[in-house]
Amino acid sequence: MTRFDAAIKAMSEHALGMVRDGQVIGLGSGRAATALVRALAARASEGGISVSGVPTSLQIKLVAEAGRIPLAEADRIGAGGIDVVFDGADQVDAGRTVIKGGGGALLRESIVASAAKKFVVMADETKFAQVLDRDVPVEVHPLARSYAADAVRKMGGEPRLRLLDRGYPFVTENGNVVLDCAFGPIQRPAPLRRRLADVAGVAEVGIFARRPDVIYRARAGGRFDVL
Ligand code: A5P
Repeated sequence: MTRFDAAIKAMSEHALGMVRDGQVIGLGSGRAATALVRALAARASEGGISVSGVPTSLQIKLVAEAGRIPLAEADRIGAGGIDVVFDGADQVDAGRTVIKGGGGALLRESIVASAAKKFVVMADETKFAQVLDRDVPVEVHPLARSYAADAVRKMGGEPRLRLLDRGYPFVTENGNVVLDCAFGPIQRPAPLRRRLADVAGVAEVGIFARRPDVIYRARAGGRFDVL
């Protein structure tokens, strides 16, 4: 339980107001997306709406399966093939650029967000900053681990291979590793994203190209804002 759980539950219910019967819904990953998917499943089981979901990770797929939401895989979805995607974020700046990938699902999240007509982000107030300054997750093919790390250093960043608690490397659902890259304050996220994405072996960058159309900000005590 966190002090934002009540607000995240309330904004999930509110966000469902965007969902229409028969739509294809992108299902993000993490705690906020989990709250949304549980609310969506409850609404569907009450007979209010019938939708299909496109999961961005095994984590959220399991939540959707438990809620009996029919699923489709992202590889069958073309541009605009998802009506709306609901996802969390690790940081949101004043220009609405988001950093994602704290859970390692950034590649699928980015594909689903890019294929969606509407991208909705839900995050608690601690994740909002004037300027992005948290580590940027960069998903990298294992063969490019050292090369990509050197490229990040040349850009002024400090890469750290993501490890699990017992020291084993974290491996994404796509068989890649993640470099969490510290750059300090990122005044111009779009050019940095492009430079990182240009590095051979990089599969996805946690600074997303797609900016959210709607942002929910959870506040402690159960209230939330729609930005
Ligand atoms: C998954 O890789 C991430 O992009 C998550 O969506 C992000 O970390 C937000 O997760 P929470 O809602 O759990 O904070």
